[in-house]
Amino acid sequence: MTTVQVLLGDRSYPIRIRPNSLPDLGEAIAQELGATRAVVLTTPRVAAAHHKPVEHGLRAADVRTDRIQVPDGERAKTLRTASRVYDALLEFGADRQTVLVGLGGGALGDLAGFVASTYLRGVPLVQVPTTLLAQVDASVGGKTAVNHPRGKNLIGTFYQSRMVWIDPEVLKTLPPRDRRSGMAEIVKVAAIWDAEFFAWLEEQIEEVMRLEPDALTEAVARACSIKAEIVGLDEREAGLRALLNFGHTLGHAIENAASYRRYRHGEAVTMGMVFAARLSEKRGICPSGSAARLEGLLKRAGLPAQPPDWNQDRDAYLRAISVDKKMRAEKVGVVVLRDIGSAEVLQLTPEEILEGAP
Ligand SMILES: NC(=O)c1ccc[n+]([C@@H]2O[C@H](COP(=O)([O-])OP(=O)(O)OC[C@H]3O[C@@H](n4cnc5c(N)ncnc54)[C@H](O)[C@@H]3O)[C@@H](O)[C@H]2O)c1
Ligand SMILES: [Zn+2]
Repeated sequence: MTTVQVLLGDRSYPIRIRPNSLPDLGEAIAQELGATRAVVLTTPRVAAAHHKPVEHGLRAADVRTDRIQVPDGERAKTLRTASRVYDALLEFGADRQTVLVGLGGGALGDLAGFVASTYLRGVPLVQVPTTLLAQVDASVGGKTAVNHPRGKNLIGTFYQSRMVWIDPEVLKTLPPRDRRSGMAEIVKVAAIWDAEFFAWLEEQIEEVMRLEPDALTEAVARACSIKAEIVGLDEREAGLRALLNFGHTLGHAIENAASYRRYRHGEAVTMGMVFAARLSEKRGICPSGSAARLEGLLKRAGLPAQPPDWNQDRDAYLRAISVDKKMRAEKVGVVVLRDIGSAEVLQLTPEEILEGAP
C-alpha cells in the first residue's frame, strides 16, 4: 500500500493507493475511523462496475451499510440532488458518526463532499475516486461544490476527507478518452512543480497509459503527493494553490466557448497549458524548447495540443477569459512556466493573454 499524507494539522489524512484494494476499504474504515455505519453515495454506472467489493468489504468488517444512488456525471451536482441525498440519509437514520463514502468520479465526489460537510453540520467523509481526474485532482484538497444555474461550482465548502482510497484498477472500466483527459492533470502538476517527475513521465507515459499497475500507481501517487503538498501549504487558495490553475484560464474559455460539449476538461486544459507555455517563452520567462517538450509529452498521452482558432470568435474568448472566476480587476491571473517544474502567476489583461497566440 502506498500512502500519501495530506498535512493539515488535526485535519490531516492519508491517501491510500493500491491496485485491487476496494475489498479492503471496509476494514480500513472500521479500524482507522472506528466506524460502525457507512452510507455509500454512488452512481448507476460506477455502482454496476465497482460497488460490490466495497459493500462486501464493509459488511465483512461489521460496518452497517446503506447505498444512495444519484445520476451519473455533472447532472447530479445540484442543490436539488443534495437535498434528495439529505432526505435519504434522514430516512436511513444516518447520524454524526455515520461515514459518507463517495464512490465515483469528480462530480460525484464534489457532491459527496458538499453533503458530508453540511449534513448534521458535518459527518466523516471517505472519498473513493473512480476516474483518473478524480484520483489525482478532485478527491484531494477539500474543495466541495454543487453547480448553480448561473455557473459551475458556485456553491460549495472547504471540507477535508478523513481518508482517500484509490484503487487504480478501477480505471480499466473508464472510457479511454476519460483516461487521457485525466492524464492532463498529472502532466500539469509535474510541469508546475516537479521536473524530475516530468522526466519520469517522459520515460513512462506509454506504460501509464496502458494502465500497467506499477507505473500507473506510481504516477497517481506522485501526482497526489504534489497536490497534497501544495494544498498543505495553501489550503484556501491564498496564493500557491493558484498554480494548479496552469492551463485552466484558457482551458475554461475553450470549454465555455464550446458550451462544455465538444471537449473533455483535460483536453481543453491541454490546449491551455501548451498555449500558456508558448506565452511564457514569448515573454522570455521560460527557456525556449519548454513548450515543445510539454506538447510532446501531452501528444504521447493522446491529448490534442493545438488550440482552436479563436480569431473567428475572438470576442467570445475575451469574454470567457474575463468572466473566469480567477479574475482580479481587469487583469486576469494566468499561470506561466519559469521552466519545466516551476511556475508563477502573471497578471495580464485578456487581450495580452490572447496576444500570446502563436
Ligand atoms: N474538488 C476539486 O478540487 C475538483 C478538482 C477538479 C475537478 N473537479 C470536478 O470534477 C468533475 C469532473 O470529474 P470527472 O472527470 O471524474 O467526471 P465525472 O465525475 O462526471 O465522471 C465522468 C463519467 O465517468 C463515469 N465513471 C466514473 N468512474 C468510472 C469508472 N471507473 N468506470 C466507468 N465509468 C466511470 C461517471 O459516472 C461519469 O458518467 C467536475 O464536476 C469538476 O468540477 C473538482
Ligand atoms: Zn482541471
